[in-house]
This record gives sequence, C-alpha cells and structure tokens, in this order.
Amino acid sequence: MRILSGIQPSGTLHLGNYFGMMRPAVELQDKGEALYFIADYHSMTSLFDAAQRRKNTWDVALDFLACGLDPKKSIFFRQSDVPEVTELSWLLSTLTPMSLLEKGHSFKDKSAKGIPVNHGLFAYPVLMAADILLYDSNIVPVGKDQKQHVEMTRDIAIKFNEQYGPTFVIPEPQIREETALVPGIDGQKMSKSYGNTIEIFGEEKATRKKIMGITMDSRTPAEPKPDADKNLAVQLLKLVAPAGVGAEIEERLRAGGFGYGDLKKALFEHYWNHFAAARQRRAELAANPDYVNGVLAEGAAKARAIARPILKRARQASGLE
Ligand code: ADP
Ligand code: TRP
Repeated sequence: MRILSGIQPSGTLHLGNYFGMMRPAVELQDKGEALYFIADYHSMTSLFDAAQRRKNTWDVALDFLACGLDPKKSIFFRQSDVPEVTELSWLLSTLTPMSLLEKGHSFKDKSAKGIPVNHGLFAYPVLMAADILLYDSNIVPVGKDQKQHVEMTRDIAIKFNEQYGPTFVIPEPQIREETALVPGIDGQKMSKSYGNTIEIFGEEKATRKKIMGITMDSRTPAEPKPDADKNLAVQLLKLVAPAGVGAEIEERLRAGGFGYGDLKKALFEHYWNHFAAARQRRAELAANPDYVNGVLAEGAAKARAIARPILKRARQASGLE
C-alpha cells in the first residue's frame, strides 16, 4: 500500500496541520510505503516572496522531521525536486473540465473575497492530482478541507483511464473524524490564512499570551457551564493533554467552580508539554542542516525513481510515445 500527502510551505505550521495531517501521516509510516512532500510549487499560487518561500520550506522540513517523520521509513522530499509532476499535470489538465475546477473551494473562496485569482490557483487541483497519481498512491491522509481535492483527483484519474486505458490507481482520502477540523482561537477552522492559529513550535511567551487572550463568555468561575464540550479551549485541550485530562476539566467546568482562566492556563501547560520532546529534536535538526539537506536529496532521488516509470506509462497511454 502506498500512502502520500503533502503540505504547503505557505506559512508557519499550526495545531490544525499537526493533528489534521502530520500526526496521522507519521502514524501511517508503519502501514505501508509512505511518501510525504513539501508542496513548494503549490505555495507559488499564493506566496510571491522568494526568500519567504525558501525559509518556509526549510521550516516545514524541520517541523515534519521533528514531529516524527522518519526518513528511514518514509520518503520525504521537496515537490519541485521531482519536476516530472508538472508534465503529468499538463497531461491531466487536458482531460479536466473547466466546470470541475470552477467548483473548487479554494478558488471560489478567494475569488468571493475579491482576492485576484491566478491561473495556478485555478489549476491547483490538477497539480495536486498529478502529485497523487504520479506515485500510484492508494491512501491520502489529509484534513477535511482537502477532501474535495482528492475527490477531484479520483474524477480526473477515472476520466484518463476511460480515455486512454487503465493507467492510474484510484486513490482514497483518509480523514480522521476526531481531528477533521481543529478550531482556531476565534472558533473558525484553524488556518494560516485566518490569523487564528496556535503554532506547533510557537515562542513560549507569545503563545501563552495568545492562549490567555482567547475570548470566552462572561460566566464567572462559580457558574456551572453545561455546554463545556462546545468550548474551543476544551476541544484543543483534549488534543494536547494526556487521555482523560480534557474530559476531567470539562466535568469541572460543567459542575461549576472552575473558571476560564484556569482552563486557559491548563491548555497552555499541556500544549507546551505535548511538544517538549519535538521542540528539542527540532533544535537539534536546525543545528544540523547538512543532515536535513541529505534527507531531502535522498528522498527526491527515491521519489523520482518511482515517478519516472509511472509518467512513462501515462505518456505511452496517451500516445506521446
Ligand atoms: P492552512 O489552512 O493553514 O493554509 P493547509 O491548507 O496548508 O493549511 O493544510 C495542510 C494540511 O493540514 C492539510 O492536510 C489540511 O487538511 C490540514 N489542516 C489545515 N488546517 C486544519 C484544521 N484546522 N483542522 C484539521 N486539519 C487541518
Ligand atoms: N493542497 C494541500 C494543502 O493545502 C497540499 C497538497 C498538495 C497535497 N499536493 C498534495 C496534499 C497531494 C495531499 C496530496 O494542504
């Protein structure tokens, strides 16, 4: 079984990225042959600062390795180190109906907000389909917001197979219900684009301040809070605290006598401890850039070796060869 997922270097990674995609991806490393990549080509649709892209790409590499991606088990690479993906993207684009792309959430959301939309953003799902199909991927672990993209990939692959004969494996998205949508500090989906994130490796003081600043309702500590399960700090606490701790604090809120200040303090402490070991590993990796570059170079070589014959298959099927 082949497992594949990617993450854009479009900003600093947060708890939504971690619980929605990175942790499931790390856990799946033992279940099959895993390929994980940094989607730097994709980041070009929304980030136009070259130095920033370079920095973000490096940070994503450190973050992912620190969070448990093991290069002995998985192939870890930079998307643009396998430029074959852009050729496959072209082949696929010629069988992708405009009407399919017009339904794309990320394109629709941005144009609705009046953000100027470039062709790359419109065609984003085609490049993502190429990412997935280029490696005969079976399983794609992602957060819920990416489900539509994987469904589009399936549609495009089916269309290609019908037109040119069996060529591509049809992939399945894998979405964990419990972490499908991690809420941000304003209650919306946590996202780099909404400025509502808690970073995985946030600076201590700033993150404490951010968490203590989460707005809550005006009930006093003494008042019982029967709706405590809906509280976003409780939801985040359940993710970062050891099993049972979140439920226990939820109970104390329900009973009354436990205030929001205490809740937020607990959230910060458990957040900080949850990532303590990873924070240490990240510092070690940052001090060893040769190792990290070596991992990415080796990953790219392995990924290319898988990709080339699959691209050839598509070229032959479509009459380019
Ligand atoms: P962002 O919305 O912050 O730009 P990305 O689109 O780069 O995040 O997402 C990278 C990965 O993290 C994807 O698999 C996505 O589904 C997952 N993800 C992002 N935000 C969340 C969230 N709030 N809850 C669960 N998963 C998320
Ligand atoms: N679009 C994904 C995101 O924003 C990143 C991505 C690019 C991806 N190519 C992929 C995810 C292929 C899974 C498979 O999160």
